Amino acid sequence: MLQKPRGTRDFLPDEMESRRIIEWRMREIARRWGYREVCTPEFEDLELFTMRSGEGIIEEMYVFLDKGGRKLALRPEITAAVIRMYVNEAKVAPKPLRWCYFADCFRYERPQKGRYRQFWQFGVELIGSDTAHADAEIIMLAADMLNATGVVYDLKVGHLSFMKNLIKDLELPLQRRVMAHLDKKDFEGLKNTLESINMMDLGNSLISLVECRDLGEAFEIAGAIPEKERIHQTITALDSAGVSYSLNFGIARGLDYYTGMVFEGFAQNLGAENQILGGGAYRLAHLFGGDDAASCGFAIGFDRVMVSLGELQNKKDTIVAIVCTNEGRLHALNVAKIFRKAGLRVEMDLTDRGLGAQLSHASKTADFALVIGQRETESGNVTLKNLNSGEQGTLDPHSALREVASYGARG
Ligand code: HAM
Repeated sequence: MLQKPRGTRDFLPDEMESRRIIEWRMREIARRWGYREVCTPEFEDLELFTMRSGEGIIEEMYVFLDKGGRKLALRPEITAAVIRMYVNEAKVAPKPLRWCYFADCFRYERPQKGRYRQFWQFGVELIGSDTAHADAEIIMLAADMLNATGVVYDLKVGHLSFMKNLIKDLELPLQRRVMAHLDKKDFEGLKNTLESINMMDLGNSLISLVECRDLGEAFEIAGAIPEKERIHQTITALDSAGVSYSLNFGIARGLDYYTGMVFEGFAQNLGAENQILGGGAYRLAHLFGGDDAASCGFAIGFDRVMVSLGELQNKKDTIVAIVCTNEGRLHALNVAKIFRKAGLRVEMDLTDRGLGAQLSHASKTADFALVIGQRETESGNVTLKNLNSGEQGTLDPHSALREVASYGARG
């Protein structure tokens, strides 16, 4: 038997209904904040992703040559593509631009619970605004969106300037290595790296910074930071909006394009793969031939939110089964039309089996049966049977519809 590729999933109808409910809650919040949906290709020139992050990232991606010999990659994330699109299509549009997306990404990772090779992100990008209030808007929107899903989470907010100020005298490749250690909370690796260049003191400052939860203290550890005023403004805005977060100056973010504010969200009930959101302020447009537009955004790991929410989110849809004889089929089709027009979910029995067998099937799949035999066809009525209580009665189709609709409202 053929199976799906490693790290991918199939979604049955119950699960798809749950996913759509949560997706639409996120969409609705994005709309209320003025973010409009964009869509970019599933694959891009490989260069789009290696330009900033280097060739090393190829290991983590699905990369292929097309028949024209072009090097392409399935997108591992959407931010770079959105900024490429901004440079190609919307450079001269009035700013800031508020864009959002809900799309699948592909990463060649070792699959486990909450970590897939194909997964979905709901993300937003705020392009062309370089202020404390832009940073704050993105964090507030993230919190609003996660709250709308009902997931229970912790939000951690930081800023790269603290860390960067401490390591600014190191050579660039070494800076990257130190940031990678910090991102993974790999203090052993950090100590080894710094020992090899005789800078153990720096290690102690970095670890104190990672453990520090107080803004004033972080400024003391990291020294003079030009963004100090902006950081204060962002934090003040978050506090006055009542956003629930904690400060964390150890957030380094795995992707290489962040420049300032960074933040991450963690679900409280997931195991190792508990990061459900990542984002921050970044600059990418200049790399793709555009202006140096400051941007800010985040992406929610949609699949992890669904895992965290657990049980299915379905609204109970009332299902009406039509059970009919062959003579009754044309009348039944008309009745089905009336019910569907009213917004009900109607499933016709498509077999030639008898009414008894049809009813027994309906009792497993539906809430109501509309039984239409010769008697109902002649009178223009229907027999409505409540499959949960067993009650039944013969009514005209519109009265039956009112009966079913009022049950849906109660349910
Ligand atoms: P990221 O942190 O790499 O950021 O990914 C965002 C979220 O996608 C993660 O927090 C996680 O929930 C989810 N995610 C990542 N990898 C997987 C996986 N293999 N399986 C399931 N979920 C996964 C970005 O992608 C940035 N583009 C976010 C951003 C937008 N920054 C600025 N704007």
